[in-house]
Amino acid sequence: MDSDVCKKAGGTASQRETEPVYRTTGPCAIKIPGPCGLVIFGASGDLTKRKILPSVYRLQKNHLLPDQFFILGAGRTEMSTDQFRGEVVSAVKNAFGKDFDESSWNELVNKLDYAPTNYTAPETYTQSLRQKLLQLEKRHQTGGNRIFYLAIPPTLYENVISNLGTTGLSREEGGYTHVVIEKPFGRDLDSARRLNRIVRDSFEEKQVYRIDHFLALETVQNILMLRFANSIFEPLWNRSYIDHIQITASETLGVEQRAGYYEEAGVIRDMFQNHMFQLLALTAMEPPVAFGAEPVRDERAKVFDSIKPFPTDRLSDYVAIGQYGRGKIGLNSVPGYREEKGVSAKSVIPTFAAMKVLIDNWRWNGVPFYLRSGKRLSRRRTEISIHFKPVPYLMFSNTLNEPIEPNRLVLRVHPDEGMNLVLQTKNPGSEVCLNPISMDFCYPRDVLMDAYEWVLLNCMHDDQLLFVREDGVEQTWSLLTPVIERLESTTAVDQFPNYPAGSSGPEEADLLMKRDGREWRPL
Ligand code: BG6
Repeated sequence: MDSDVCKKAGGTASQRETEPVYRTTGPCAIKIPGPCGLVIFGASGDLTKRKILPSVYRLQKNHLLPDQFFILGAGRTEMSTDQFRGEVVSAVKNAFGKDFDESSWNELVNKLDYAPTNYTAPETYTQSLRQKLLQLEKRHQTGGNRIFYLAIPPTLYENVISNLGTTGLSREEGGYTHVVIEKPFGRDLDSARRLNRIVRDSFEEKQVYRIDHFLALETVQNILMLRFANSIFEPLWNRSYIDHIQITASETLGVEQRAGYYEEAGVIRDMFQNHMFQLLALTAMEPPVAFGAEPVRDERAKVFDSIKPFPTDRLSDYVAIGQYGRGKIGLNSVPGYREEKGVSAKSVIPTFAAMKVLIDNWRWNGVPFYLRSGKRLSRRRTEISIHFKPVPYLMFSNTLNEPIEPNRLVLRVHPDEGMNLVLQTKNPGSEVCLNPISMDFCYPRDVLMDAYEWVLLNCMHDDQLLFVREDGVEQTWSLLTPVIERLESTTAVDQFPNYPAGSSGPEEADLLMKRDGREWRPL
Protein backbone atom coordinates (compact mmCIF):
# COMPACT_ATOMS: atom_id res chain seq x y z
CA MET A 1 0.00 0.00 0.00
CA ASP A 2 2.82 2.40 0.87
CA SER A 3 4.44 2.20 -2.53
CA ASP A 4 1.15 2.87 -4.31
CA VAL A 5 0.86 6.17 -2.50
CA CYS A 6 4.29 7.27 -3.64
CA LYS A 7 3.66 6.18 -7.21
CA LYS A 8 0.49 8.28 -7.29
CA ALA A 9 2.49 11.21 -5.99
CA GLY A 10 4.78 11.03 -8.96
CA GLY A 11 6.99 7.98 -8.67
CA THR A 12 9.65 6.92 -6.25
CA ALA A 13 13.25 8.02 -6.13
CA SER A 14 14.37 4.66 -7.44
CA GLN A 15 12.07 5.09 -10.44
CA ARG A 16 13.12 8.62 -11.30
CA GLU A 17 12.79 9.31 -14.97
CA THR A 18 14.47 12.68 -14.99
CA GLU A 19 17.59 13.71 -13.17
CA PRO A 20 17.11 16.00 -10.17
CA VAL A 21 17.93 19.68 -10.22
CA TYR A 22 19.70 20.93 -7.12
CA ARG A 23 19.49 24.45 -5.92
CA THR A 24 22.85 26.11 -5.48
CA THR A 25 21.40 29.50 -4.53
CA GLY A 26 18.78 30.66 -2.06
CA PRO A 27 18.11 29.72 1.57
CA CYS A 28 17.89 25.94 1.04
CA ALA A 29 20.78 25.78 -1.39
CA ILE A 30 23.33 23.04 -1.31
CA LYS A 31 26.62 24.84 -0.88
CA ILE A 32 29.31 24.26 -3.47
CA PRO A 33 32.46 23.26 -1.61
CA GLY A 34 35.77 25.05 -1.90
CA PRO A 35 38.69 23.82 -4.05
CA CYS A 36 40.07 20.37 -3.29
CA GLY A 37 41.77 17.27 -4.64
CA LEU A 38 40.36 13.78 -4.13
CA VAL A 39 42.85 10.93 -3.97
CA ILE A 40 41.12 7.57 -4.31
CA PHE A 41 43.10 4.56 -3.09
CA GLY A 42 41.61 1.52 -4.82
CA ALA A 43 40.88 3.53 -7.94
CA SER A 44 40.43 0.52 -10.18
CA GLY A 45 38.28 -1.35 -7.66
CA ASP A 46 34.60 -2.17 -7.52
CA LEU A 47 33.53 0.44 -4.95
CA THR A 48 35.16 3.23 -6.94
CA LYS A 49 33.37 2.20 -10.10
CA ARG A 50 29.98 1.44 -8.57
CA LYS A 51 29.63 4.24 -6.02
CA ILE A 52 32.33 6.89 -5.85
CA LEU A 53 32.82 7.85 -9.49
CA PRO A 54 29.12 7.83 -10.43
CA SER A 55 28.53 10.12 -7.42
CA VAL A 56 31.35 12.47 -8.44
CA TYR A 57 29.93 12.58 -11.96
CA ARG A 58 26.43 13.35 -10.67
CA LEU A 59 27.78 16.13 -8.46
CA GLN A 60 29.55 17.55 -11.50
CA LYS A 61 26.42 17.27 -13.60
CA ASN A 62 24.47 19.17 -10.97
CA HIS A 63 27.13 21.86 -10.68
CA LEU A 64 27.94 20.95 -7.09
CA LEU A 65 31.68 20.53 -7.50
CA PRO A 66 34.16 23.39 -7.27
CA ASP A 67 35.87 24.42 -10.51
CA GLN A 68 39.23 23.89 -8.85
CA PHE A 69 39.01 20.17 -8.36
CA PHE A 70 40.82 16.99 -9.39
CA ILE A 71 40.75 13.28 -8.78
CA LEU A 72 43.95 11.31 -8.46
CA GLY A 73 43.31 7.59 -8.80
CA ALA A 74 45.84 5.51 -6.89
CA GLY A 75 45.81 1.77 -7.51
CA ARG A 76 47.95 -1.32 -7.76
CA THR A 77 47.06 -1.83 -11.42
CA GLU A 78 49.68 -0.45 -13.82
CA MET A 79 47.86 1.84 -16.24
CA SER A 80 48.13 5.25 -17.81
CA THR A 81 45.93 8.23 -17.06
CA ASP A 82 44.21 7.74 -20.43
CA GLN A 83 43.44 4.12 -19.62
CA PHE A 84 42.09 5.21 -16.25
CA ARG A 85 39.85 7.80 -17.90
CA GLY A 86 38.60 5.08 -20.27
CA GLU A 87 37.74 2.83 -17.30
CA VAL A 88 35.98 5.64 -15.49
CA VAL A 89 33.85 6.64 -18.44
CA SER A 90 32.63 3.09 -18.97
CA ALA A 91 31.79 2.77 -15.27
CA VAL A 92 29.82 6.01 -15.33
CA LYS A 93 28.07 5.13 -18.60
CA ASN A 94 27.21 1.79 -17.10
CA ALA A 95 25.68 3.47 -14.04
CA PHE A 96 23.64 6.06 -15.96
CA GLY A 97 22.84 4.44 -19.31
CA LYS A 98 20.82 6.79 -21.48
CA ASP A 99 21.07 9.57 -18.86
CA PHE A 100 24.81 9.83 -19.40
CA ASP A 101 25.55 13.41 -20.35
CA GLU A 102 28.58 13.91 -22.57
CA SER A 103 29.06 17.60 -21.72
CA SER A 104 29.22 16.97 -17.94
CA TRP A 105 31.69 14.21 -18.59
CA ASN A 106 33.82 16.50 -20.72
CA GLU A 107 34.01 18.97 -17.86
CA LEU A 108 35.26 16.23 -15.57
CA VAL A 109 37.56 14.17 -17.74
CA ASN A 110 40.53 16.54 -17.70
CA LYS A 111 40.44 16.55 -13.93
CA LEU A 112 41.15 12.82 -13.71
CA ASP A 113 44.66 11.48 -13.25
CA TYR A 114 46.18 8.18 -12.23
CA ALA A 115 49.24 7.05 -10.29
CA PRO A 116 50.16 3.35 -10.03
CA THR A 117 50.71 2.81 -6.31
CA ASN A 118 52.37 0.15 -4.24
CA TYR A 119 50.39 0.59 -1.02
CA THR A 120 52.98 -1.02 1.21
CA ALA A 121 56.08 0.83 -0.06
CA PRO A 122 56.74 4.13 1.79
CA GLU A 123 58.87 5.42 -1.11
CA THR A 124 55.76 5.41 -3.35
CA TYR A 125 54.20 7.94 -0.99
CA THR A 126 57.27 10.13 -0.64
CA GLN A 127 58.05 10.08 -4.35
CA SER A 128 55.52 9.36 -7.12
CA LEU A 129 52.35 10.06 -5.13
CA ARG A 130 53.60 13.23 -3.46
CA GLN A 131 55.07 14.58 -6.71
CA LYS A 132 51.90 13.91 -8.66
CA LEU A 133 49.82 15.44 -5.92
CA LEU A 134 51.87 18.62 -5.80
CA GLN A 135 51.77 18.89 -9.58
CA LEU A 136 47.99 18.49 -9.70
CA GLU A 137 47.47 20.89 -6.81
CA LYS A 138 49.43 23.52 -8.69
CA ARG A 139 47.65 22.86 -11.98
CA HIS A 140 44.14 22.88 -10.49
CA GLN A 141 44.81 25.51 -7.81
CA THR A 142 43.24 23.48 -5.03
CA GLY A 143 45.12 25.29 -2.26
CA GLY A 144 46.40 22.11 -0.61
CA ASN A 145 42.95 20.78 0.39
CA ARG A 146 43.23 16.99 0.13
CA ILE A 147 40.92 14.08 0.69
CA PHE A 148 42.38 10.58 0.86
CA TYR A 149 39.56 8.13 0.20
CA LEU A 150 40.33 4.53 1.17
CA ALA A 151 38.29 2.40 -1.22
CA ILE A 152 40.58 -0.57 -0.60
CA PRO A 153 40.13 -3.91 1.17
CA PRO A 154 40.17 -3.41 4.98
CA THR A 155 43.30 -5.58 5.25
CA LEU A 156 45.19 -2.69 3.61
CA TYR A 157 43.86 0.10 5.84
CA GLU A 158 46.62 -0.11 8.43
CA ASN A 159 49.34 -0.02 5.83
CA VAL A 160 48.01 2.91 3.86
CA ILE A 161 47.08 4.95 6.95
CA SER A 162 50.51 4.40 8.56
CA ASN A 163 52.30 5.24 5.32
CA LEU A 164 50.31 8.45 4.94
CA GLY A 165 51.37 9.30 8.49
CA THR A 166 55.04 8.38 8.42
CA THR A 167 55.63 10.03 5.05
CA GLY A 168 54.01 13.26 6.24
CA LEU A 169 51.16 13.20 3.71
CA SER A 170 48.60 13.22 6.52
CA ARG A 171 49.81 16.63 7.74
CA GLU A 172 47.73 19.68 6.97
CA GLU A 173 49.93 22.04 4.99
CA GLY A 174 48.09 25.15 3.94
CA GLY A 175 44.78 23.36 3.44
CA TYR A 176 42.85 20.56 5.09
CA THR A 177 43.74 16.86 4.84
CA HIS A 178 40.87 14.43 5.39
CA VAL A 179 40.88 10.67 5.32
CA VAL A 180 37.70 8.75 4.43
CA ILE A 181 37.49 5.21 5.76
CA GLU A 182 34.87 2.77 4.52
CA LYS A 183 33.26 0.11 6.63
CA PRO A 184 33.99 -2.47 7.96
CA PHE A 185 35.98 -0.58 10.58
CA GLY A 186 37.52 -3.60 12.35
CA ARG A 187 35.91 -7.00 12.75
CA ASP A 188 35.58 -6.97 16.55
CA LEU A 189 36.33 -4.70 19.49
CA ASP A 190 40.06 -5.43 19.60
CA SER A 191 40.68 -4.89 15.89
CA ALA A 192 38.58 -1.70 15.88
CA ARG A 193 40.58 -0.35 18.83
CA ARG A 194 43.81 -1.23 17.08
CA LEU A 195 42.72 0.47 13.87
CA ASN A 196 41.63 3.55 15.82
CA ARG A 197 45.08 3.67 17.42
CA ILE A 198 46.77 3.49 14.04
CA VAL A 199 44.51 6.22 12.68
CA ARG A 200 45.24 8.36 15.76
CA ASP A 201 48.99 7.97 15.22
CA SER A 202 48.70 9.57 11.77
CA PHE A 203 45.62 11.81 11.87
CA GLU A 204 43.72 13.95 14.33
CA GLU A 205 40.09 12.93 14.88
CA LYS A 206 38.89 16.10 13.12
CA GLN A 207 40.54 14.79 9.94
CA VAL A 208 38.85 11.38 10.06
CA TYR A 209 35.64 10.49 8.18
CA ARG A 210 34.43 6.96 9.02
CA ILE A 211 31.62 6.20 6.62
CA ASP A 212 28.28 4.71 7.45
CA HIS A 213 26.41 5.37 4.25
CA PHE A 214 23.02 4.89 5.96
CA LEU A 215 23.67 8.05 7.99
CA ALA A 216 24.01 9.96 4.72
CA LEU A 217 20.66 8.87 3.32
CA GLU A 218 18.31 11.80 2.91
CA THR A 219 15.52 10.08 4.83
CA VAL A 220 17.81 9.11 7.66
CA GLN A 221 18.99 12.70 7.96
CA ASN A 222 15.34 13.67 8.12
CA ILE A 223 14.80 11.69 11.35
CA LEU A 224 16.45 14.48 13.31
CA MET A 225 14.42 17.17 11.55
CA LEU A 226 11.19 15.31 12.09
CA ARG A 227 11.91 14.80 15.76
CA PHE A 228 13.40 18.12 16.68
CA ALA A 229 11.89 20.64 14.25
CA ASN A 230 8.29 19.67 15.07
CA SER A 231 6.73 20.15 18.46
CA ILE A 232 4.09 17.45 17.99
CA PHE A 233 6.34 14.38 18.10
CA GLU A 234 8.87 15.01 20.83
CA PRO A 235 6.40 15.08 23.77
CA LEU A 236 5.19 11.61 22.72
CA TRP A 237 8.64 10.18 21.95
CA ASN A 238 9.15 8.22 25.15
CA ARG A 239 8.11 5.31 27.34
CA SER A 240 4.80 6.95 28.34
CA TYR A 241 3.40 6.82 24.81
CA ILE A 242 5.48 4.37 22.81
CA ASP A 243 4.99 0.64 23.19
CA HIS A 244 7.92 -0.48 21.06
CA ILE A 245 9.97 0.40 17.98
CA GLN A 246 10.85 -1.81 15.02
CA ILE A 247 13.80 -1.15 12.72
CA THR A 248 13.97 -3.22 9.56
CA ALA A 249 16.52 -3.41 6.75
CA SER A 250 15.51 -6.29 4.51
CA GLU A 251 17.06 -7.09 1.17
CA THR A 252 16.07 -9.32 -1.71
CA LEU A 253 19.65 -9.60 -2.92
CA GLY A 254 21.80 -12.49 -1.80
CA VAL A 255 25.51 -12.45 -1.13
CA GLU A 256 26.23 -11.60 -4.81
CA GLN A 257 29.96 -11.50 -5.66
CA ARG A 258 31.02 -10.82 -2.06
CA ALA A 259 31.19 -14.32 -0.59
CA GLY A 260 34.85 -13.89 0.39
CA TYR A 261 34.01 -10.90 2.56
CA TYR A 262 30.64 -12.16 3.76
CA GLU A 263 31.93 -15.55 4.93
CA GLU A 264 34.19 -13.61 7.31
CA ALA A 265 31.53 -11.10 8.30
CA GLY A 266 27.92 -12.31 8.43
CA VAL A 267 24.94 -10.07 8.95
CA ILE A 268 25.78 -8.79 12.45
CA ARG A 269 29.13 -7.36 11.42
CA ASP A 270 27.83 -6.32 8.01
CA MET A 271 24.62 -4.53 9.02
CA PHE A 272 24.11 -4.29 12.79
CA GLN A 273 27.40 -2.96 14.17
CA ASN A 274 27.04 0.01 11.84
CA HIS A 275 23.81 0.75 9.96
CA MET A 276 21.21 -0.76 12.30
CA PHE A 277 22.74 0.65 15.47
CA GLN A 278 23.12 4.09 13.87
CA LEU A 279 19.43 4.09 12.91
CA LEU A 280 18.62 3.11 16.47
CA ALA A 281 20.77 5.91 17.88
CA LEU A 282 19.10 8.58 15.73
CA THR A 283 15.67 7.32 16.75
CA ALA A 284 16.48 7.11 20.45
CA MET A 285 18.85 10.03 21.11
CA GLU A 286 18.12 13.10 23.22
CA PRO A 287 17.91 16.52 21.56
CA PRO A 288 21.47 17.75 20.96
CA VAL A 289 22.40 21.22 22.23
CA ALA A 290 23.06 22.30 18.64
CA PHE A 291 22.81 20.84 15.17
CA GLY A 292 26.49 20.18 14.70
CA ALA A 293 28.76 17.19 14.37
CA GLU A 294 30.02 17.04 17.96
CA PRO A 295 26.74 17.64 19.81
CA VAL A 296 24.90 15.12 17.59
CA ARG A 297 27.67 12.54 17.89
CA ASP A 298 27.74 13.06 21.67
CA GLU A 299 24.06 12.17 21.86
CA ARG A 300 24.46 9.13 19.61
CA ALA A 301 27.28 7.98 21.90
CA LYS A 302 25.07 8.40 24.99
CA VAL A 303 22.49 6.06 23.43
CA PHE A 304 25.15 3.39 22.85
CA ASP A 305 26.29 3.85 26.44
CA SER A 306 22.76 3.26 27.69
CA ILE A 307 22.13 0.04 25.76
CA LYS A 308 21.87 -2.91 28.13
CA PRO A 309 24.56 -5.50 27.34
CA PHE A 310 23.09 -8.67 25.81
CA PRO A 311 22.99 -11.52 28.35
CA THR A 312 25.12 -14.11 26.54
CA ASP A 313 23.83 -16.96 28.71
CA ARG A 314 20.23 -16.26 27.56
CA LEU A 315 21.03 -14.99 24.09
CA SER A 316 18.09 -16.70 22.37
CA ASP A 317 15.71 -14.45 24.35
CA TYR A 318 17.31 -11.47 22.62
CA VAL A 319 18.83 -12.59 19.34
CA ALA A 320 17.59 -14.86 16.53
CA ILE A 321 19.72 -15.71 13.53
CA GLY A 322 19.13 -17.39 10.22
CA GLN A 323 20.64 -18.38 6.91
CA TYR A 324 18.74 -18.57 3.64
CA GLY A 325 18.14 -21.76 1.77
CA ARG A 326 16.90 -22.13 -1.80
CA GLY A 327 13.75 -20.32 -2.70
CA LYS A 328 12.12 -17.86 -5.02
CA ILE A 329 12.55 -14.11 -5.30
CA GLY A 330 9.55 -13.06 -7.32
CA LEU A 331 9.34 -15.64 -10.06
CA ASN A 332 13.03 -16.50 -10.05
CA SER A 333 14.44 -19.55 -8.31
CA VAL A 334 17.59 -18.69 -6.39
CA PRO A 335 20.18 -20.90 -4.68
CA GLY A 336 20.68 -21.21 -0.95
CA TYR A 337 23.54 -19.35 0.75
CA ARG A 338 25.63 -22.53 1.05
CA GLU A 339 25.26 -23.07 -2.71
CA GLU A 340 26.55 -19.61 -3.62
CA LYS A 341 29.96 -19.35 -5.28
CA GLY A 342 32.73 -19.04 -2.69
CA VAL A 343 30.58 -20.12 0.27
CA SER A 344 31.41 -23.20 2.31
CA ALA A 345 28.85 -26.03 2.04
CA LYS A 346 28.86 -26.13 5.84
CA SER A 347 28.87 -22.41 6.47
CA VAL A 348 27.30 -21.28 9.76
CA ILE A 349 27.47 -17.61 8.81
CA PRO A 350 24.14 -15.89 9.50
CA THR A 351 22.52 -13.96 6.64
CA PHE A 352 19.66 -12.83 8.87
CA ALA A 353 19.43 -11.57 12.44
CA ALA A 354 16.74 -10.15 14.66
CA MET A 355 17.51 -8.53 18.01
CA LYS A 356 15.69 -7.12 20.95
CA VAL A 357 17.61 -4.13 22.26
CA LEU A 358 16.85 -2.48 25.60
CA ILE A 359 17.93 1.05 26.40
CA ASP A 360 18.41 1.72 30.05
CA ASN A 361 17.63 5.39 30.40
CA TRP A 362 14.82 7.62 31.64
CA ARG A 363 13.22 8.04 28.22
CA TRP A 364 13.25 4.44 27.03
CA ASN A 365 13.11 2.23 30.09
CA GLY A 366 10.81 -0.71 29.28
CA VAL A 367 10.45 0.12 25.55
CA PRO A 368 12.04 -2.62 23.44
CA PHE A 369 13.67 -1.79 20.11
CA TYR A 370 13.35 -4.75 17.74
CA LEU A 371 15.90 -4.78 14.93
CA ARG A 372 15.93 -7.16 11.96
CA SER A 373 17.98 -7.37 8.82
CA GLY A 374 18.57 -10.10 6.32
CA LYS A 375 19.40 -11.05 2.77
CA ARG A 376 17.10 -12.82 0.32
CA LEU A 377 13.92 -11.77 2.04
CA SER A 378 10.64 -11.23 0.25
CA ARG A 379 11.00 -7.44 -0.13
CA ARG A 380 13.61 -4.76 -0.07
CA ARG A 381 12.62 -2.38 2.67
CA THR A 382 14.38 -0.15 5.20
CA GLU A 383 12.16 1.53 7.73
CA ILE A 384 11.68 2.56 11.33
CA SER A 385 8.22 2.01 12.74
CA ILE A 386 7.12 3.60 15.97
CA HIS A 387 4.29 1.67 17.60
CA PHE A 388 2.33 3.79 20.06
CA LYS A 389 0.53 2.45 23.09
CA PRO A 390 -3.15 1.52 22.78
CA VAL A 391 -5.73 4.04 23.95
CA PRO A 392 -6.28 3.61 27.69
CA TYR A 393 -10.05 3.61 28.07
CA LEU A 394 -12.19 1.59 25.76
CA MET A 395 -15.35 3.63 25.76
CA PHE A 396 -16.30 1.66 22.69
CA SER A 397 -16.12 -1.72 24.40
CA ASN A 398 -19.89 -2.33 24.22
CA THR A 399 -20.14 -1.42 20.59
CA LEU A 400 -16.86 -2.58 19.05
CA ASN A 401 -16.01 -6.22 18.79
CA GLU A 402 -12.38 -5.74 17.98
CA PRO A 403 -9.59 -3.99 19.89
CA ILE A 404 -8.55 -0.60 18.56
CA GLU A 405 -5.39 -0.72 16.53
CA PRO A 406 -2.80 1.60 18.14
CA ASN A 407 -1.31 4.50 16.17
CA ARG A 408 1.78 3.82 14.17
CA LEU A 409 4.31 6.14 12.58
CA VAL A 410 6.52 4.63 9.90
CA LEU A 411 9.62 6.42 8.65
CA ARG A 412 10.40 4.88 5.29
CA VAL A 413 14.08 5.02 4.46
CA HIS A 414 13.84 2.90 1.34
CA PRO A 415 12.02 2.48 -1.04
CA ASP A 416 9.24 5.07 -1.32
CA GLU A 417 11.15 7.46 0.91
CA GLY A 418 8.74 9.27 3.16
CA MET A 419 6.55 8.65 6.17
CA ASN A 420 3.20 7.30 7.11
CA LEU A 421 0.97 7.81 10.14
CA VAL A 422 -1.92 5.49 10.90
CA LEU A 423 -4.86 7.06 12.76
CA GLN A 424 -8.33 5.87 13.67
CA THR A 425 -11.42 7.60 12.26
CA LYS A 426 -15.09 6.82 12.18
CA ASN A 427 -16.25 4.80 9.26
CA PRO A 428 -18.69 7.04 7.38
CA GLY A 429 -22.30 5.89 7.55
CA SER A 430 -21.90 3.09 10.08
CA GLU A 431 -22.97 3.66 13.66
CA VAL A 432 -19.77 2.90 15.53
CA CYS A 433 -17.20 1.36 13.37
CA LEU A 434 -13.59 2.49 13.18
CA ASN A 435 -11.60 2.90 10.06
CA PRO A 436 -7.80 3.12 10.24
CA ILE A 437 -6.64 5.81 7.84
CA SER A 438 -3.15 6.36 6.66
CA MET A 439 -1.59 9.79 6.19
CA ASP A 440 1.27 9.52 3.82
CA PHE A 441 4.13 11.77 2.84
CA CYS A 442 6.46 10.90 -0.04
CA TYR A 443 9.64 12.81 -0.65
CA PRO A 444 9.36 14.85 -3.83
CA ARG A 445 11.09 12.78 -6.45
CA ASP A 446 13.50 15.46 -7.57
CA VAL A 447 15.32 16.21 -4.33
CA LEU A 448 16.94 13.00 -3.20
CA MET A 449 20.69 13.00 -3.25
CA ASP A 450 22.54 9.71 -3.18
CA ALA A 451 24.29 8.79 0.11
CA TYR A 452 27.72 8.83 -1.55
CA GLU A 453 27.11 12.29 -2.95
CA TRP A 454 26.40 13.49 0.60
CA VAL A 455 29.48 11.68 1.89
CA LEU A 456 31.71 13.45 -0.63
CA LEU A 457 30.11 16.86 -0.20
CA ASN A 458 30.21 16.75 3.59
CA CYS A 459 33.79 15.67 3.62
CA MET A 460 34.66 18.60 1.34
CA HIS A 461 32.65 20.89 3.65
CA ASP A 462 34.53 19.77 6.78
CA ASP A 463 31.32 18.43 8.29
CA GLN A 464 31.60 15.20 10.28
CA LEU A 465 27.97 14.99 11.40
CA LEU A 466 27.13 12.11 9.07
CA PHE A 467 30.24 10.17 10.01
CA VAL A 468 31.06 7.86 12.89
CA ARG A 469 33.37 9.04 15.64
CA GLU A 470 36.12 6.96 17.22
CA ASP A 471 34.08 6.24 20.37
CA GLY A 472 30.92 5.33 18.41
CA VAL A 473 32.64 2.57 16.52
CA GLU A 474 34.15 1.05 19.67
CA GLN A 475 30.88 1.27 21.61
CA THR A 476 28.91 -0.72 19.04
CA TRP A 477 31.66 -3.30 18.72
CA SER A 478 31.80 -3.67 22.49
CA LEU A 479 28.06 -4.43 22.57
CA LEU A 480 28.14 -6.86 19.67
CA THR A 481 31.49 -8.63 19.95
CA PRO A 482 30.33 -10.90 22.84
CA VAL A 483 27.16 -11.71 20.88
CA ILE A 484 29.09 -12.63 17.74
CA GLU A 485 31.61 -14.72 19.69
CA ARG A 486 28.88 -16.59 21.51
CA LEU A 487 26.97 -17.29 18.29
CA GLU A 488 30.13 -18.40 16.49
CA SER A 489 30.91 -20.90 19.22
CA THR A 490 27.39 -22.30 19.53
CA THR A 491 25.84 -22.36 16.05
CA ALA A 492 25.61 -25.92 14.72
CA VAL A 493 25.89 -26.83 11.05
CA ASP A 494 22.46 -28.47 11.02
CA GLN A 495 20.78 -25.31 12.36
CA PHE A 496 20.95 -23.77 8.86
CA PRO A 497 19.40 -23.10 6.42
CA ASN A 498 16.35 -22.09 8.42
CA TYR A 499 14.49 -19.78 6.07
CA PRO A 500 13.79 -20.07 2.36
CA ALA A 501 14.85 -17.26 0.06
CA GLY A 502 11.87 -15.01 -0.59
CA SER A 503 10.32 -15.47 2.88
CA SER A 504 10.20 -13.04 5.77
CA GLY A 505 12.96 -14.77 7.72
CA PRO A 506 13.21 -17.64 10.20
CA GLU A 507 10.53 -18.67 12.64
CA GLU A 508 12.90 -17.88 15.53
CA ALA A 509 12.58 -14.18 14.68
CA ASP A 510 8.79 -14.37 14.93
CA LEU A 511 9.09 -16.17 18.26
CA LEU A 512 11.27 -13.37 19.60
CA MET A 513 8.30 -11.05 19.12
CA LYS A 514 5.56 -13.52 20.01
CA ARG A 515 7.11 -14.13 23.42
CA ASP A 516 6.54 -10.42 24.11
CA GLY A 517 2.99 -10.51 22.71
CA ARG A 518 3.97 -8.55 19.61
CA GLU A 519 4.55 -9.18 15.93
CA TRP A 520 6.71 -7.83 13.13
CA ARG A 521 5.24 -5.54 10.59
CA PRO A 522 4.78 -7.55 7.40
CA LEU A 523 7.59 -6.94 4.90
C1 BG6 B 1 26.33 -2.47 2.94
C2 BG6 B 1 26.41 -3.93 3.23
O1 BG6 B 1 27.01 -1.73 3.90
O2 BG6 B 1 24.97 -2.07 2.90
C3 BG6 B 1 25.65 -4.73 2.19
O3 BG6 B 1 27.78 -4.33 3.22
C4 BG6 B 1 24.23 -4.22 2.09
O4 BG6 B 1 25.66 -6.11 2.49
C5 BG6 B 1 24.22 -2.72 1.89
O5 BG6 B 1 23.64 -4.86 0.98
C6 BG6 B 1 22.81 -2.17 1.95
O6 BG6 B 1 22.83 -0.83 1.62
P1 BG6 B 1 21.98 -0.27 0.41
O7 BG6 B 1 22.33 1.18 0.33
O8 BG6 B 1 22.35 -1.06 -0.79
O9 BG6 B 1 20.56 -0.51 0.85
